[in-house]
Amino acid sequence: MTDNASLRRTQVDALTEAEAAEELAALAREIAGHDVAYHQKDAPTVTDAEYDALRQRNTAIENRFPALVRIDSPNAAAPGAAPAAGFGKLRHGTPMLSLDNAFAPEDFLEFAASIRRFLKLSDGEPLHFVGEPKIDGLSVNLTYQDGKFVRGATRGDGTEGEDITQNLLTLDELPRTLKAPFPAQIEIRGEVYMTKPDFLRFQAEQQQAAEERERRREAGERVGEAVRVPVNPRNAAAGSLRQLDPSVTARRPLRLFAYAQGVSSEPVAASHSEYLAVLKRWGFKVNPLSRLLPDAEAAAAFQVEMGEKRAGLDYDIDGVVYKLDKLDWQERLGFVGRAPRWAIAWKFPAERATTKLLRIEIQVGRTGALTPRAVMEPVSVGGVMVQHASLHNEDEILRKDVREGDTVILQRAGDVIPQIVGILPEKRPADSKPFDFPTTCPACGSHAVRPPGEVVKRCTGGLICPAQTVERLIHFASRVAADIEGLGAENVILLHEAGLLKAPADIFRLKDHRDTMLAFRGWGAKKVDNLLAAIEARRDMPLEKFIFALGIRRIGEANAKLLARHYHTVEAWRQAMLDARIIGSEAREGLGSIAGIGPAIADELVEFFKEPRNLTALDALLAEVQPTPPEAIAAGDSELAGKSIVFTGTLVTMSRDEASARAERLGAKVTKSVSKKTDLVVVGADAGSKATKAAELGLTVLTEAQWREMAGLPPA
Ligand code: IVH
Repeated sequence: MTDNASLRRTQVDALTEAEAAEELAALAREIAGHDVAYHQKDAPTVTDAEYDALRQRNTAIENRFPALVRIDSPNAAAPGAAPAAGFGKLRHGTPMLSLDNAFAPEDFLEFAASIRRFLKLSDGEPLHFVGEPKIDGLSVNLTYQDGKFVRGATRGDGTEGEDITQNLLTLDELPRTLKAPFPAQIEIRGEVYMTKPDFLRFQAEQQQAAEERERRREAGERVGEAVRVPVNPRNAAAGSLRQLDPSVTARRPLRLFAYAQGVSSEPVAASHSEYLAVLKRWGFKVNPLSRLLPDAEAAAAFQVEMGEKRAGLDYDIDGVVYKLDKLDWQERLGFVGRAPRWAIAWKFPAERATTKLLRIEIQVGRTGALTPRAVMEPVSVGGVMVQHASLHNEDEILRKDVREGDTVILQRAGDVIPQIVGILPEKRPADSKPFDFPTTCPACGSHAVRPPGEVVKRCTGGLICPAQTVERLIHFASRVAADIEGLGAENVILLHEAGLLKAPADIFRLKDHRDTMLAFRGWGAKKVDNLLAAIEARRDMPLEKFIFALGIRRIGEANAKLLARHYHTVEAWRQAMLDARIIGSEAREGLGSIAGIGPAIADELVEFFKEPRNLTALDALLAEVQPTPPEAIAAGDSELAGKSIVFTGTLVTMSRDEASARAERLGAKVTKSVSKKTDLVVVGADAGSKATKAAELGLTVLTEAQWREMAGLPPA
């Protein structure tokens, strides 16, 4: 597992193509993971700012290397996430779009002016808008056929959402049937939300349940799935609506306001205000604060009025949605990108509050990142009680000059996780001291490193750190790594919670715990024995899989393969990595000379081997498994087998990558620099110093044609 939360180390301009490709792959994976956490699990794992930084980095790299843009690029899809597995999918009759934002009166005036320009309206022509408080919940699409509710979906990716019909049927405020007259078929859109008092009650219940579970887990009891404590009403509503078991949704206090339409078999109104009246007649709740506004000035006044009402409302709003009232104009205006030209969301400024910072805690993420977190005296920001905020990293603490004991200014904008935006220097206690960022991991005591240019400090005890254990074990056993059948994420978690798995070596000792496993619910003898047999079958996994399975940062499958080919045996690799800890050593140079292994990768390997706890875990693992050397394909048959080869200059008949791959396949080691240990130097056009050095050292120098012949390729 190469972990990438902080690959933001290298300037984009300085990335090589290979590094860029590797990072784009990593970013695609990581961003997709955050999308799933946010949209499908309703449990965001990073702040919006961190998420945006990842996307920006991705875009910057894509802009520099357009040829590397991936098919799964985070920029290929609209933000939002494809439907989660578990729910059926439903396609919306017309796409569910998002809204452009306005933040200031000028933005709104420009929005109104652009409507006039587009429709070629004269200044005298009145523009009516409907203003609707923008509730932060979860938008849903409700389909009615012949006046009966037949199905409902989440927004999903805007085109296709999840079928949450059964869950929606648990909402009191959802009309099962429409009061006649109604069109034969119509889609109605609205927002499912939770009120602030309901949210606070529900959050407290979940908090208690989570603590209770933790107590039981610590007491060694088997516990069920983790309890999610929602961070805000939106999060709570989304999580409640997306329960696979509708009886869970039924116990959650969810409400619904209707506000828009999708496809309809016949028109039902000429204006949006009329449409809202129809919705009410059909039996929907329509936000009672919604108002028809005669012009842009009235809209600006409504914005101020809603801003003043905001704190006193029963539910969270983050702005007001303004929609052009005339539906035929809406139709003509249409959409640009993912947003309509006829509506805009005018956001309120972020809400702020001040409170005291009690202490700074360091949390260790699943990938070993040490993240500082502020623990504060609880304070209400925009109606939500807040007592934690991420401080992101060491530099951020320095930059904001935040210290324990300070009075901090907190900000929450929409559903953004609260941020500390600054401090009140006049309230700083006289004896305050700058925060001392730890140099060891608070979870396992391993040393923590922060490579030059990188912002994140990271625990190096990957194999043993309890904060990272589960993730590492899942990776180790996964299909792409050790490939242990029957040891997927779910079982790893179960075995870890039962105390049977702490480090990878424990997997191979599970056979001593057969009886314990037999006692697990639903684990018959057959299941246990199949698992144990699958584990036994991996005691001699290929070296490249073994290296990859260790989950060293930046050592993905490709790099693991390069290492396995180069060092051949696990003993040789282990020893070389230990020796490479010394800068300037022959082993370090050797590592650096492997084509495809850049300095950043070499550094990660060395850091891993510098941590004695990792070595202990590695050796424990090596007492259990015997990785097999990579097959040197037809090695015996080729003159190249076992030779060390350098390609220099431009080859005419094939790329250097292809030549390297060919050489490796025939059992050669490809290195970048020429030394007396080099056996062969293939010299292409315009070769420089390496060719000269080869000649000086009296090495065997080949032309491209001679190389082709030796590699068994036909003359070009
Ligand atoms: S209309 C094309 N009206 O805001 C029009 N949306 O940023 C699309 N929302 O996904 C939506 N209150 O979740 C509309 N009165 C309202 C709304 C509203 C909240 C949310 C909705 C939507 C998002 C768009």
